[in-house]
Amino acid sequence: MKYYVLTLFPDMIRDGFQTSITGRAVEKGLLSLETVNIRDFSVNKHNRVDDYPYGGGAGMVMQAEPVYLACQSVISKLPRNPRVLYMSPQGQVFNQQMAGELAQEEELIFLCGHYEGIDERVLEEIVTDEVSIGDYVLTGGELPALVIMDAVSRLLDGVLHNDESAEFDSFHDNLLEYPQYSRPEQWRGKQVPPILLSGHHANVERWRREQSLLRTRERRPDLLERAALTKEDKKFLANLTDL
Ligand code: ADE
Repeated sequence: MKYYVLTLFPDMIRDGFQTSITGRAVEKGLLSLETVNIRDFSVNKHNRVDDYPYGGGAGMVMQAEPVYLACQSVISKLPRNPRVLYMSPQGQVFNQQMAGELAQEEELIFLCGHYEGIDERVLEEIVTDEVSIGDYVLTGGELPALVIMDAVSRLLDGVLHNDESAEFDSFHDNLLEYPQYSRPEQWRGKQVPPILLSGHHANVERWRREQSLLRTRERRPDLLERAALTKEDKKFLANLTDL
């Protein structure tokens, strides 16, 4: 996977990506990150990339041409036209399924806006997907781009170690994850659920599945409607008495 990020704040992207698992994956050559500073494509002698909005109103708008040129500088060196993801609270809300779809791509271009937005004409010209990371407004698209790159990267082969497998994650099958415990067995008077110490693999698996079902029912009933439930799961849920 090759990520290209068009941004006015390349340091923010590099700093955010460099650490932890994504940084390790770059070092291993499993992915690459290239940032493109939109300001380098300013068509203004003062290096500006924003201007007043036509029709008036608050704030500034990022001009079309620098964004277009920044994007072309990436596309022109690639063998095919990659998806161009514009980070915007008006986009489709990102989820695990989208992460899985994006992980199939060879290259992804992220376009990060600032100020009051980007001239609509260049968005019409270059953007293939407008993506939001949730119903709130951030100061720019850099954090959303980092969020999406992180979620996509951990699905790529070799990025997680086997014991960090993405297969059993929350949302993998529209169920939240079961609770986890580690040593010590007693912590400030709180005991690890005894079943986890039983060594009985099948019982542990069943307990974990039930915990997932309980959590999802309690915290995210909307997900439960879309989960692939077995007969046994349905029976377990049907037998629960509401408190
Ligand atoms: N830019 C500003 N807010 C955003 C959000 N919630 N998602 C994606 N991009 C954004």
